[in-house]
Amino acid sequence: MQFRKDSLYANPLGEIAAFKFDDAVVDVFPDMIQRSVPGYSTIISAIGLLAGRFSRENSICYDLGCSLGAATLAMRQQISAKNCRILAVDSSAAMVSRFQQKIQGTPGVIVDVCCRDIREIDISNASVVVLNFTLQFIPPVDRHRLLANIYQGLMPGGILILSEKLAFEDERQQILQTEMHHLFKKAQGYSELEVSQKRAALENVLVPEAFSIHRQRLMDVGFNSVAIWFQYFNFASMIALK
Ligand SMILES: C[S@@+](CC[C@H](N)C(=O)[O-])C[C@H]1O[C@@H](n2cnc3c(N)ncnc32)[C@H](O)[C@@H]1O
Repeated sequence: MQFRKDSLYANPLGEIAAFKFDDAVVDVFPDMIQRSVPGYSTIISAIGLLAGRFSRENSICYDLGCSLGAATLAMRQQISAKNCRILAVDSSAAMVSRFQQKIQGTPGVIVDVCCRDIREIDISNASVVVLNFTLQFIPPVDRHRLLANIYQGLMPGGILILSEKLAFEDERQQILQTEMHHLFKKAQGYSELEVSQKRAALENVLVPEAFSIHRQRLMDVGFNSVAIWFQYFNFASMIALK
C-alpha cells in the first residue's frame, strides 16, 4: 500500500482550513505522525507489549481512534490469549477503508474495524483499551463521559493506555516544551511554514490538557492507579489500571 511524504502544509495557503482526517491526510498519515509525534514508534511497540501482558482469554482489546491501525497491528503481534479479538474504531471513513484494505486476508487475532464515533459505542468485556493520540481530538466536555464508559467496560485488572499531547501549567515549561517540539519537527525536515500552518489548522481541533487534569479525570471515573510510562517533550503516554 502506497503512502506519500507529508507536504500538505509546504506551500503558502491563503486560508487555513481546520484539520480533518480526510483522504489527503490518509495518503500521508504514516509519514506525518512519525515526523510530528516524538517517540511515536516507541509508544506503538510498547502498546503491543502491554497488550501481550494484559489481554485475557475471551476478552476484547479496543483501539479507539485507530487511524490506519498501527496500534492494532502491534497488539495483534503480541496477543496470545485464546479467543481474544481486537475492535478497532475510527470515525474517519477514509482511515477505516484504508485500514480494512490493509488487513484484509491477513492472518492472526481477529480484528473488526468499524467506522463509528467512539463516543457512541458500547464498550464491554475489555481487557485492554487504547486511546493513542485520540482523546485530544474529542471536545473536552465529552471526555469525562467517554472515559467513564471505558472504565465501566473494562474488566477488573484491565488497562487503559492513553497517549496525548500535553499542555503545561507552568508557563516556562509550556513555552520551552512547545519550542522543543517545533525544533523536533524541523529536525524531521518540516519547514517553519509547515510547522506554523499545521499549528493554525490544529487550533481548537487538537485541545491538549495538563497531566494533572488527565490524572484527576481518570481518578474521577474510577481508575485508582495512573502513571506516565513515557514522555518525550510535550507528548506522553499514560497507563491507568482498573
Ligand atoms: C492522531 S489520530 C490517532 C492515531 C492512531 N491511534 C495511531 O496510533 O496511529 C486520531 C484519530 O482519531 C480519530 N477520531 C477523532 N475523533 C473521533 C471520534 N469522535 N470517534 C472516532 N474516531 C475519532 C480520527 O479520525 C483519527 O484517525
